[in-house]
Amino acid sequence: MATTLITGGTVVSATGRGAADVLIDGETIVGVLEPGSVLLGTNLAESADTVIDATGKYVIPGGIDAHTHFELPFGGTEASDTFESGTRAAAWGGTTTVIDFAVQTTGTRIQDGLARWHAKAEGNCAIDYGFHQIMGGVDEDSLKAMEGFAAEGITSYKMFMAYPGVFYSDDGQILRAMQKAADLGLLTMMHAENGPAIDVLAAQLVEQGKTDPYYHGIARAWQMEEEATHRAIMLADLTRAPLYVVHVSAKQAVQQLAWARDNGKNVFGETCPQYLYLSLEEQLGASSDEWGAFEGAKWVCSTPLRSREEGHQDHMWQALRTNDLQMVSTDHCPFCMKGQKDLGVGDFRKIPNGIGSVEHRMDLMYQGVVTGQLSLERWVELTSTTPARMFGMYGKKGVITPGADGDVVIYDPNGHTSIGVGKTHHMNMDHSAWEGFEIDGHVDTVISRGKVIVDGNRYLGAKGDGRFVKRGLSQYLI
Ligand code: URP
Ligand code: ZN
Ligand code: ZN
Ligand code: ZN
Repeated sequence: MATTLITGGTVVSATGRGAADVLIDGETIVGVLEPGSVLLGTNLAESADTVIDATGKYVIPGGIDAHTHFELPFGGTEASDTFESGTRAAAWGGTTTVIDFAVQTTGTRIQDGLARWHAKAEGNCAIDYGFHQIMGGVDEDSLKAMEGFAAEGITSYKMFMAYPGVFYSDDGQILRAMQKAADLGLLTMMHAENGPAIDVLAAQLVEQGKTDPYYHGIARAWQMEEEATHRAIMLADLTRAPLYVVHVSAKQAVQQLAWARDNGKNVFGETCPQYLYLSLEEQLGASSDEWGAFEGAKWVCSTPLRSREEGHQDHMWQALRTNDLQMVSTDHCPFCMKGQKDLGVGDFRKIPNGIGSVEHRMDLMYQGVVTGQLSLERWVELTSTTPARMFGMYGKKGVITPGADGDVVIYDPNGHTSIGVGKTHHMNMDHSAWEGFEIDGHVDTVISRGKVIVDGNRYLGAKGDGRFVKRGLSQYLI
């Protein structure tokens, strides 16, 4: 088996940092050693097949993006990244594992959805991948199917309080699924927005001629997120099901989570880079020569971007510091403007929902370190270690330790990354939600199960390198 030695770097974990060399044998980390170690009389730097000099750089566990949607059918079209293009872009950005959502839409069989997702992903991924299961309708069949999830390595599932007629479950359905999840030790993930009320608000706005993307953010008011978050918390509390609220964007929803956690409830929250950086006013309300006020469609996602005047973005950063939110995923769900987002010209309700960020998450979150809002350790914890623990992969993923998979990123704090104007990214999109962002730091080297897949500006990965990860139960169950 080929060995790789990473020398001279600062190894960063969720709990500390220090100078160390990392030895990978084949696919597995076998040593985290004193710099310049001699093992059994052998100087490792001379005997390793490959030696990578990480002097002046951080050596971190590969990023884990626990929320992606590759090839998701949505709004009459399909998310534009395939498993092939999406995992390649993720690799470029220092992410070595993704968890995508296998989909059951209302009225279809859950087992068919999972089989379809395996067929889409198998043999096409550049990095390892797992699945959560979307439950698009709770009935006797899907409740029964939940009993088989854990054996398939799918230990978390998502329900929607939004999107009536597509993915929506009502409170009675949610209650029944949570009862079952509590019995089985599954983690319930929730899209917490009051969908039926939002649909009424959206229809009223369109009737008034308010059809631009900006009104997507008005219809999906923060009150609708706060209310649904509270309802999800109480249903989870009653059923004793652990709860993970996805893509939290409203400060009032964070306050609900903080209140619940302070009162001993087993609830968790994820936010996404878009809710830390972007806003209702600047992005959803944007206009351009090319698109006019439809420019804002680039940033139509749900939950929506929130008002900067109301201070949601600052509150998200604060919540990441105080652990009121525990993780940052992307909710990567890309659509091109031409032929996809433009389905909603004249009616924001028809704009497919989603933003593409899978390539930029590690860089964007590193800016929190640069600005002093996050420690290096917290950066690693939010983007890799907690996702591994939350979703039953820790030990193999999320940490640099003997026995772990050789998923390692070498990050150069002195590098610079321009998310420039034009196509400087590798996602399959005709625009970027992050155009113009200047990043301090650069993903230099990405190693996936012992194989160097990104080396500076060279891509060395291949489709089919990535394997399905059968996940164990969440470490956050109590
Ligand atoms: O806008 C979004 N988030 N699209 C993906 C579907 C979802 O609700 O996560
Ligand atoms: Zn969602
Ligand atoms: Zn999503
Ligand atoms: Zn580069």
